[in-house]
Amino acid sequence: MRIGPLNLANSAVLAPLAGITDLPFRLLVKQSGCALVYSEMISANALVRESTKTLKMLDSTTEEKPLSVQIFGTEPAIMAQAARMVASSGADLLDINCGCAVKKIAKTGSGVALMREPKTAEALFRAVRRTVDIPLTIKIRSGWDVSGRQAIEFARLAEACGIDAIAVHPRTATQGFRGQSDWSVIAAVKDAVSIPVIGNGDILSARDAVRMEADTGCDAIMIGRAAIGNPWIFSRYLALKTGQTEPNVDLAMRIETMIRYVRAMVDYRGESRACHMLRSRLGWFVKGLPHAGAFREAIKSVTAEDEALAAIDTFCATLEKRSIPEHEIGATDDEGFAAAEDSGTKQQPAIAGPRNR
Ligand SMILES: Cc1cc2nc3c(=O)[nH]c(=O)nc-3n(C[C@H](O)[C@H](O)[C@H](O)COP(=O)(O)O)c2cc1C
Repeated sequence: MRIGPLNLANSAVLAPLAGITDLPFRLLVKQSGCALVYSEMISANALVRESTKTLKMLDSTTEEKPLSVQIFGTEPAIMAQAARMVASSGADLLDINCGCAVKKIAKTGSGVALMREPKTAEALFRAVRRTVDIPLTIKIRSGWDVSGRQAIEFARLAEACGIDAIAVHPRTATQGFRGQSDWSVIAAVKDAVSIPVIGNGDILSARDAVRMEADTGCDAIMIGRAAIGNPWIFSRYLALKTGQTEPNVDLAMRIETMIRYVRAMVDYRGESRACHMLRSRLGWFVKGLPHAGAFREAIKSVTAEDEALAAIDTFCATLEKRSIPEHEIGATDDEGFAAAEDSGTKQQPAIAGPRNR
């Protein structure tokens, strides 16, 4: 898999998830073999204003590379300036958000609203393309109607403007997260352009990911909600794709991942802020497991790293003492989505996955 001059190790991609795919989260996913990780979407206006909080969103480390940083905005000059800042920060790719359907974003003309304004989008793509040399990608939806015609036309426009790859989440702007992704739109976009197409939407399991590739011919698969609390979905997909058995996720792996996450969060955010965020985030990793409720209760007011680690330790000891069978501990296909339902982020959709597609 190649995007512009950049070679990717495989075809597994982590989707941008606002409020979730910060540096500590991306590092976890990277350790599961994911080839490319996306940042949360970053406001071009706020970057250009040099907002401290926004600049911090550009933080990265070598272990997570290659990193794609996603920006959103509508003014070509501001987007170009923000793109320059992203490239200078060391990002390997730059992605332009053309798919966010959240009202607050779309009503400013950015996100999915760009799909309705091809002239603005073209000016924006060309301005950014002239400004940076790093590979440039976009992430789109189906458009404003279910036919997917807008996605095809928009993808062709993007290719003509020098965009190097396109990620497609085939729901319409008005659908939000309702209904199911229509994977046939991914296939149609793939047929329409010669740049790589990354398929996204409703991958709940490694098997879904392999099926999306087969059904659509997409060059890579992108997973969002199902990776929350379930970074192993990537290693499972990579195993399945190469004809191996999906690796089992035992208790030791799960606990080790949670500990790594706590430490990465504390390193990155500082103890107080990290603990505040971990009160809900650690729950992602235990969804559906025995004693998950007691664990949540134990972490809901943690204020120190040691307290969080002690709660994990107690949780682990309880499961070990009760000799919980392996199959109750291993990550299941449902887990990531169940975790997403739980994470409390405003954008979180009601889950309606394509289990029986
Ligand atoms: C909490 C949340 C935050 C998201 N944030 C972004 C974002 O910042 N940029 C973006 O392009 N898409 C964003 N999305 C959309 C996802 O990247 C993805 O397209 C969508 O969730 C469908 O993929 P999935 O079924 O694998 O989750 C977000 C979705 C969710 C649920």
